[in-house]
Amino acid sequence: MTYNDIRKVYLDYFKSHGHTIVPSASLIPNDPTLLFTVAGMVPWKGILQGTEPAFATRVADVQKCIRAGGKHNDLDEVGFDGRHHTFFEMLGNWSFGDYFKEEAIKMSWDVLTNVIGLDPKRIVVTTHISDDEATEIWKKVAGKDAIRLDKDNWWSAGDTGPCGPCTEMHYDMGDHLFGDVPGSPDEDGGRYVEIWNNVFMQYDRDANGNLNPLPMQNVDTGAGLERWAAVLQGVTDNYDTDLFRHLIAATEDVTGVKRTDANVSSFKVITDHLRAVGFAIADGVIPSNTDRGYVIRRILRRAMRHGQMLGHRGALLSKLYPALIAEMGMAYPELAANQQRVVEIIQNEENAFADMLQNGMKLLDTELPKINNGVLPGDVAFKLFDTYGFPLDLTQMILRDKKMDVDVAGFEKCMTEQRERSRADTKGTRTLWETQTGLQATADKSKYAPVADMQSTVLAILRDGEFVQTAAAGDMVEVALDKTNFYGTQGGQVGDSGELTCDGKTVMTVSEAARVGTVVIHKGTLTADIKTGDVVCSLINTATRQQTARAHTATHLLQAALRSVLNQDVEQRGSKVSPDSVRFDFSFGRAMTADEKQAVEDLVNSWIAADMPVTHEEMNIEQAKTRGAMALFGEKYGDVVRVITAGEVSCELCGGTHINHTGQIIRARINKEKSISSGIRRITMSVGTLAQ
Ligand code: ALA
Repeated sequence: MTYNDIRKVYLDYFKSHGHTIVPSASLIPNDPTLLFTVAGMVPWKGILQGTEPAFATRVADVQKCIRAGGKHNDLDEVGFDGRHHTFFEMLGNWSFGDYFKEEAIKMSWDVLTNVIGLDPKRIVVTTHISDDEATEIWKKVAGKDAIRLDKDNWWSAGDTGPCGPCTEMHYDMGDHLFGDVPGSPDEDGGRYVEIWNNVFMQYDRDANGNLNPLPMQNVDTGAGLERWAAVLQGVTDNYDTDLFRHLIAATEDVTGVKRTDANVSSFKVITDHLRAVGFAIADGVIPSNTDRGYVIRRILRRAMRHGQMLGHRGALLSKLYPALIAEMGMAYPELAANQQRVVEIIQNEENAFADMLQNGMKLLDTELPKINNGVLPGDVAFKLFDTYGFPLDLTQMILRDKKMDVDVAGFEKCMTEQRERSRADTKGTRTLWETQTGLQATADKSKYAPVADMQSTVLAILRDGEFVQTAAAGDMVEVALDKTNFYGTQGGQVGDSGELTCDGKTVMTVSEAARVGTVVIHKGTLTADIKTGDVVCSLINTATRQQTARAHTATHLLQAALRSVLNQDVEQRGSKVSPDSVRFDFSFGRAMTADEKQAVEDLVNSWIAADMPVTHEEMNIEQAKTRGAMALFGEKYGDVVRVITAGEVSCELCGGTHINHTGQIIRARINKEKSISSGIRRITMSVGTLAQ
């Protein structure tokens, strides 16, 4: 059976069993907690939770999904095996308060054994340890003894929302493959493949971790189409199924390179990424430097790099898009309907990437012959980064092919020097602001306020190195207000962005707020004329503020967790807190083990799930010391300090912005832990939607 056949028999079966068949929803979810639609149930979350009316009680569809960022993230696995995808299709049937466990299991069994004709003996089923009912139904319906598991048989899309016990069906691909049944030590071997999951959505988990019964008992099922295709076509690698064989053949045509055992992972990456990029852009994602746009840009560039590794130059995914339409356009008319726009967007990205590559490669070609120790100097790698936009890992990848290395320490040194240079640049206008002493006194009273907007008076405008009374639309300026709710960059936390308005109209877009002494400087571009004395409204970008605030509180939890898991001597040596991401440097003499990293991440997430209150209090430094508040190494503090506490676990001196309770962080994920200099380690961590 081909992909088209499977979609059809699946939907026909459920149609004849009273289900309304609906087209796939967009990959862009209507859900702020997710970057992409990660499962078939995402569009139905509101119905499952009872906050939206159900338009039918039985529904079935084939849903486009992307798992390439956050909790459900398979990006780095793609290419290394035959089972991982960033984009995939999920077959699903739902009962919204209609049938429950028995009928759901009966239908799944009927479809697997009668409709698509799998051998019942090769199917293994699992149920949740608490679920006697589903276990008995399996015995009755199929004569199967379910394997009973805990975590693997509980399903939720995120940390909060609808969830419940599930029962999974696994298929035995044959004893020639390594691996064992679910729950055994070798379960990941590849022999048993999960082919269907039926979730009995009975609960709604709140931010405190409580399981509240849902108004109705629902069924949510999900089956990976790519896996069904592999099973039904008798192959063990999803990339050997009809759809992928055709896309790989198209890639061979475009690149002029034949697939071999040695280069097969590049073909897997390119064909997988073609689907993710093509479908996401068709659904309206634009490659960019933030959020889902950034995920798509990274995926596209990863595909381009693999094209490079095959020796291909220039456009790749834009040339392959017609092949994607040929394969999947029947099932997804949006691919053809948006062809021109999608191809144009991909071409623009490809051109930008190709220019960057070409120019950088020219530099490399002149530098490489000068090297005689097999190591590219750090300053050249830095120039590639700084002038041509080559990330370090791209340079490393290009050199790896030539059996050469990069002087990473030298690269980092140049990065640090550049940071210092740019700090000195800011000092240029900084000195000018420092001369405005009267201003400092006025602004001294201002504290960033936890409100979304506030009325203020324009005190000073700096343009082209000079203080002016008036400035015009289009001017790039720095503005000080008598009071402001913008947080100016300091203490490692990046400043707020937002806008200043007057009578409801934007007068300035503020790209970043900085801080000189006690004065907050709003930097940005005017969209209308302003003069000193004008009364404006300061509006911060509250979504970004929230993302930065949760990253900041997460940083405190990270520090507490590191001290708890590693030892109490761990000390912060620097940090950068940006929207939903954290860079944290700390003193520790060796690399952390995988178990330690996991333990730290788990501890932070358990504190997030515990939804502890986060409070801030002002007190004098002595009181703070008595409280046992942690202070930053080498930092000077004023007499009155601000103490931030998170539950019982963290108490720190800090002037930054924070959330009110730890559950607002949603989730934290450690991405990397590495050495930056002797005895100092660096952790990068994502939080919020970026960590899901
Ligand atoms: N929502 C369930 C899953 O994705 C069916 O596995």
